[in-house]
Amino acid sequence: MKRETGTYRVTKWENEEVQAFVPTPLPPAKPPLALDDDIRRSLSAAMNALGKLAIAADMVPNAEWFLYGFVRKEALITSQIEGTQATLQDVLAFEAGEKAGRPEDVREVCNYVDALTFARDELARPDGLPLATRLFCNIHKRLMDGVRGSEKQPGEIRRSQNWIGGSRPGNARFVPPPPDLVPEALSALEKWIHGDDPLPPLIRIGLAHVQFETIHPFLDGNGRIGRLLVALLVEHWGLLKTPLLYLSVAFKRHRQAYYDRLNGVRVDGDWESWIRFFLDCVTEAADDAVASAQRLHTVTAADRAKVSAHARATVPAIRLFELLPSHPMVTLSLAIKLLGVSKPTAVKAIAALQAAGVLREITGKRRDRVYAYHEYLRVLSPDTD
Ligand SMILES: Nc1ncnc2c1ncn2[C@@H]1O[C@H](COP(=O)(O)OP(=O)(O)O)[C@@H](O)[C@H]1O
Ligand SMILES: [Mg+2]
Repeated sequence: MKRETGTYRVTKWENEEVQAFVPTPLPPAKPPLALDDDIRRSLSAAMNALGKLAIAADMVPNAEWFLYGFVRKEALITSQIEGTQATLQDVLAFEAGEKAGRPEDVREVCNYVDALTFARDELARPDGLPLATRLFCNIHKRLMDGVRGSEKQPGEIRRSQNWIGGSRPGNARFVPPPPDLVPEALSALEKWIHGDDPLPPLIRIGLAHVQFETIHPFLDGNGRIGRLLVALLVEHWGLLKTPLLYLSVAFKRHRQAYYDRLNGVRVDGDWESWIRFFLDCVTEAADDAVASAQRLHTVTAADRAKVSAHARATVPAIRLFELLPSHPMVTLSLAIKLLGVSKPTAVKAIAALQAAGVLREITGKRRDRVYAYHEYLRVLSPDTD
């Protein structure tokens, strides 16, 4: 089916005339989105999978245990899609207080976590920023803080023409709207998000993501912010209570399809194929998260039993174990700080967890040692390389 999802406007870029694409405001019209059997099936599968993830989070006594890891996983992979070279180990070691191996890459990932935390807090506060341009700009500022691209107007909607693929707009794969039309396009998107379109929320989230990418309102960071928008809306519209869905894993696995479907909306007016793809990615990511949550639960339950039965287990050792899921890598100084104990006591606690087979020293060094909860990391690490 062919439908028009926007119009082209001729703009000049260094004396070359280019066709910039200006998207028609949501929702899809002429004809409206066809909720055929395929889409309905994909939608109910995705909603079921999200429901299972929500239940998994409710069933465990301490859902923060997954949350910490899952948020880092999403932060890492959404950044990797955009070229970050950091690994899960790099990020966790940095958070444990180590000097980062790839400082700029690690910083990008940490910035994403910071931006997500900030945005969730704003949306949760009665007098916080609403989901609109100002919030996006604040997110952008955090994302770009002190990393490459930080010369690209952090916190500001772009004032120049950008493009995707190619060396100039004239040979680009996609030329987003000219800068003077961006504020208007963004505010139309916001209005639609806050309006009362009767389409199912998850489908609306998929539509919003594409529209955001098509507007491409920033000089850089649009991919990450557009995916962060998905996470925020999933929570804001009550599909999950916490950001447990690491959707970028599915986008990364099906990267070419992700780009092709985004393109298909503009070129062929094919919203339906995008929506099916998006819903299937949600299902895949949610199923994956449920399986990981179950594995993490099994691993931590077994290890807790091992630790408390171990001859060398001290009270601080047991307390340290309980802190590991939100600190899957620790150093001696971090253990001292977390436990509020003396150095010899912390040394004993770490040694006890090593003896119980929970912690492993990973640097092989005599000083500045780092201890990892390796089984926990093993569950988290698929798709992170
Ligand atoms: N053909 C396309 N049409 C619309 N959006 C696209 C297309 N190809 C890629 N994108 C989006 O653009 C993002 C990259 O934009 P960019 O501003 O560089 O994001 P980031 O800095 O987060 O790297 C991709 O992740 C994708 O979401
Ligand atoms: Mg980029």
